[in-house]
Amino acid sequence: MQDINPNSVSVDALKPSESPILNRIKDITEKLAPRLIEIRRHIHAHPELSGQEYQTAAYVAGVLSSCGVHVQEAVGRTGVVGELPNLGTDRRCLAIRTDMDALPIHERAPIEFASRLPGIMHACGHDVHTTVGLGTAMVLSQLGEQLPGQVRLIFQPAEEIAQGASWMVEAGVMKTVDAILSLHVFPSIPSGCVGIRYGALTAAADDLEILIMGESGHGARPHEAIDAIWIASQVITTLQQAISRTQNPLRPVVLTIGQINGGRAPNVIADQVRLTGTVRSLHPETHANLPLWIEHLVSSVCQTHGARYEFHYRRGVPSVQNDLVLTQMTEDVVREAWGSDRVQILPEPSLGAEDFALYLEHAPGTMFRLGVGHHNKPNYPLHHPQFEVDESAIVTGVVTMAYSACKYWLS
Ligand code: NI
Repeated sequence: MQDINPNSVSVDALKPSESPILNRIKDITEKLAPRLIEIRRHIHAHPELSGQEYQTAAYVAGVLSSCGVHVQEAVGRTGVVGELPNLGTDRRCLAIRTDMDALPIHERAPIEFASRLPGIMHACGHDVHTTVGLGTAMVLSQLGEQLPGQVRLIFQPAEEIAQGASWMVEAGVMKTVDAILSLHVFPSIPSGCVGIRYGALTAAADDLEILIMGESGHGARPHEAIDAIWIASQVITTLQQAISRTQNPLRPVVLTIGQINGGRAPNVIADQVRLTGTVRSLHPETHANLPLWIEHLVSSVCQTHGARYEFHYRRGVPSVQNDLVLTQMTEDVVREAWGSDRVQILPEPSLGAEDFALYLEHAPGTMFRLGVGHHNKPNYPLHHPQFEVDESAIVTGVVTMAYSACKYWLS
């Protein structure tokens, strides 16, 4: 564990404001800051892969229990749910969602608290998310009656494989929830700033598998065979061209064939090719129509050349659509807590995927981007083996989340 440098925890912006609750939240968070850094470094050094977050979950449950939160473990496999005692009068329930899993990446960040497990790394910042979730629980638990309603803290597993949210929802964590908040770190936004996005934040992501079945034959006599490799190449070309000519360019679709397998020898015409890919889209109507549209194209090409096919389309996570009212509330919170220069309104969504979308099928919500970019050194992107955050962002995240939770009942 590296010594904690007090200068690494920026509390410059923790100046008194006009709101007594905000001042209280800032005071508590400032006192907690060294402990939060410790928590983050512990989680960072002990990453666990999706669905295997046993130690992380136990650690989270321990911290939650120590601050008086009622804890339920093994929810949705390795998830944890914490309920804050509701001392207020408002019956509405606000959920705060956090993800806890790491990635199969070997860490190369030159830090003393780097991953102790070769080949596993918190390269997507979920260690920071977990810390901010715990910090928010610590702060809110100290507010007592100043917290007007019920808060449910959802610590989910397996976000990286886009399954944890569905496990948690199936376990019933969204029952009685009226609104849900979440955040994701973002290295291209400087630490201290928060990215706000109205409407679509991330894309719907589906999986695709196409099996093309032709007839094998001698490589020198193509007229006696049905070449599955050639037909597969026609399928790929047709799909890519059709996107540009038949899809509304203002409603983006990205189709990537990431795997292609087929053939047995250089002089044998392949009888079978398997293609797998991912399909990303933003608009709900486009998303709904994609499987039929893609299968129609595959079917036309295969029919033209006498091949048969199998088509499998798996719906993944839908697009995260941030609720306008809750997003406005978060933007107002950042302006009030940190100043208008700390808000970055994001003009574009990402075509990445985020299973937070599955909670939004049950209640409105919003996810903000927490800036974790260093001011004086290079910032590596998410999922990079040298990805590393500016830890001062943890204070920004906790205050923003905790004050948003309070504002939810006041607005
Ligand atoms: Ni992530």
